[in-house]
Amino acid sequence: MKRPLNVLVVGSGIAGMSYAIELAGSAIGRNVRIRLLSKAPVHASSSYAAQGGVAAVMDARDSFDGHVEDTLMVGGGRNEPKVVDRIVREGPHLVNKLIAMGASFDADVSGRLHLSLEGGHSAARVVHHEDRTGAEIVRVLRGRVRALPMIEVWEGWQALDLLVQGEHDQRRCAGLSALEQRTGTMHTLQADLVVLATGGVGQVYQHTTNPTASTGDGIAMAVRAGVPLRDMAFVQFHPTAMYTGTSGQAFLISEAVRGAGARLLCHDGKPLMDGLHAMGDLAPRNVVARAIHREMERSGTEHVWLDIAPVGAARFAREFPAIDRRCGELGLRPVRDLLPVMPAAHYLCGGIATDDRGRTDLPGLLALGECAGSGSHGADRLASNSLLEAMVIAMRAAAIAPTYAPSDGPITANAFAEFSITGRTHASIDRAIRDLRHAMTCHVGVVRDRDGLACALRTIAHAELVVARRWVRRRLSDGLFNLRDMTAVARVITEAALAEPRSVGTHFLADEVASPEHRSSRSTKIQARFARR
Ligand code: SIN
Repeated sequence: MKRPLNVLVVGSGIAGMSYAIELAGSAIGRNVRIRLLSKAPVHASSSYAAQGGVAAVMDARDSFDGHVEDTLMVGGGRNEPKVVDRIVREGPHLVNKLIAMGASFDADVSGRLHLSLEGGHSAARVVHHEDRTGAEIVRVLRGRVRALPMIEVWEGWQALDLLVQGEHDQRRCAGLSALEQRTGTMHTLQADLVVLATGGVGQVYQHTTNPTASTGDGIAMAVRAGVPLRDMAFVQFHPTAMYTGTSGQAFLISEAVRGAGARLLCHDGKPLMDGLHAMGDLAPRNVVARAIHREMERSGTEHVWLDIAPVGAARFAREFPAIDRRCGELGLRPVRDLLPVMPAAHYLCGGIATDDRGRTDLPGLLALGECAGSGSHGADRLASNSLLEAMVIAMRAAAIAPTYAPSDGPITANAFAEFSITGRTHASIDRAIRDLRHAMTCHVGVVRDRDGLACALRTIAHAELVVARRWVRRRLSDGLFNLRDMTAVARVITEAALAEPRSVGTHFLADEVASPEHRSSRSTKIQARFARR
């Protein structure tokens, strides 16, 4: 018998766990060893926090064509239509599979699924578990992972760099170096196949719905290994994160709340989206986020309002219990109080370039979920398409696992393996992270212009210098690794934005034309207000 295929999955969110489970259940499942590495506990993942749900055609009145068209419309025509089509058609199978695995989705007494409506959708098609769909799917997948003996979960391990063997067309991924956080030591982990499922990049911005672990580490590893990326200019800002006056991770108010009837209001009480888009409050996210940004700029404030009254208190509490609870913790009474909301970095539409089976340009390396760019999202992502995409591509990727063979021969040792971290972060690193977030928010956010993008690159270059100085002296720390990854992703986002000549989807250039939609050439007022919190 051949030795088992040795697979390292980096990231224990829905993409990583789905792949591990599918691989374990595949034709080669009895002869694999899967190590699932994660730097943060599973309940601290973006997947776990996902509120909305899984977009899928589950109603006879809906159609695959409709779902595909909505995805392409929101994506600004920058999607790969074939990939979109494939993913959309797998939606019902995926939902039924999750139900068979034990996932509970909201349904009426006859068992008919309750489908919610979100932005950009022409039909209600979001399958959900209250407003905690991610937590429900994670619960089911986690249970399955625990029951499969070929999957080992290594929590508290931070992947640092890919190990690449060979040159030119002989290059292949042979494993990675990783930091064991408990001991502060670096290890070289050899593998026949590495699967990056490290999630998003929201932490490079001042306000994000993403957890603290979303520093873009998988993407940064790919950049350093010379693996191609795509669509990196397209960072989606969710229009309605809860405004609390602080920076960092912001609590999300699901778009399904607007789908249920909630309205965005300006400071003078006027409906914010009236006359701006045919879909009103449920226009594509980039349109709504920009409208909010403009209103914040006009009024000199840091948020707009979300009016829950059209939903009603009882329905709101029943359908959105987690949001209702969070409002209570903040002293807000939905319906009686308007909720203060603002746009926050939410989802990277691009990532490590892959095909529709998660394969990257580097043999032996797959990428799945938010860190991957399969082309399905284009220039803006249709609401609740991300969990769908992550799980469908994970299934498709695992289905071709039998084509991978255990590799033989020694690998070259990784220089990292001989180092330990000092355990201390340094004030210069904290400062560089703060400056980076500030520059990305002001210049590479909802509204951009070329001068601002160039200015952001200067801040990024400074942060790179901070990294380089400590790197050469091997002053290694968690903070340094995070800053190193954050500068890498900030640079590729900003350079990709500079290379996009026209506004499309989430990429809006204020200096492209003096458009009636946004005449101010700089977001100066907002820049000043968000100054270095
Ligand atoms: C939401 O519930 O509004 C977020 C869902 C998503 O990002 O697709």
